[in-house]
Amino acid sequence: METAISEARPADLQAVLALLRDADLPLEGVTEHFGQFLVARANERVVGAAGLELYGEAALLRSVVVHAEWRGRRLGERLTEAALARARAKGIREVYLFTKTAADFFRRFGFQPIPREAMNPAVKVSVQFQTCCTANEVSMALILG
Ligand SMILES: CC(C)(COP(=O)(O)OP(=O)(O)OC[C@H]1O[C@@H](n2cnc3c(N)ncnc32)[C@H](O)[C@@H]1OP(=O)(O)O)[C@@H](O)C(=O)NCCC(=O)NCCS
Repeated sequence: METAISEARPADLQAVLALLRDADLPLEGVTEHFGQFLVARANERVVGAAGLELYGEAALLRSVVVHAEWRGRRLGERLTEAALARARAKGIREVYLFTKTAADFFRRFGFQPIPREAMNPAVKVSVQFQTCCTANEVSMALILG
């Protein structure tokens, strides 16, 4: 079945929250930043998402998620690439993220682990930053060329 990546519509919010809940990813801040979310659709069903929180020239990449039944078909890769292209188009120079289980996935796009304290101060207002970082959570950065 064909899948397409596009900007999220307000009506997609509940479907994205359900995907995040199922993947045990944070829901805080999603509604506020939903204008910067992308979704993957199969027919009309939302099967994946990726979001950005924009903070000046820095951004947080968050909520990269693919429905369990749709994993392993490069949707995560397409969503991440589309979110990074969007960040570039908006003049973002530094992208950060937190992850518990997907650090090796994000390394593919050039993200490198960094200490949480080394993140751009602009990002530190994010709820994700304030609530992040249990022992198994990695913070990562990508400087866009
Ligand atoms: C991480 C996630 C988005 C990947 O989506 P996906 O559509 O299954 O991934 P893709 O098919 O695009 O994978 C591309 C490549 O990355 C690899 N990969 C996928 N998930 C990975 C992970 N968690 N760790 C390391 N590598 C991973 C794949 O094996 C594939 O490798 P290949 O090129 O050798 O075949 C998905 O597994 C998911 O929703 N996980 C739960 C939520 C999560 O942890 N999100 C990240 C926090 S923001």
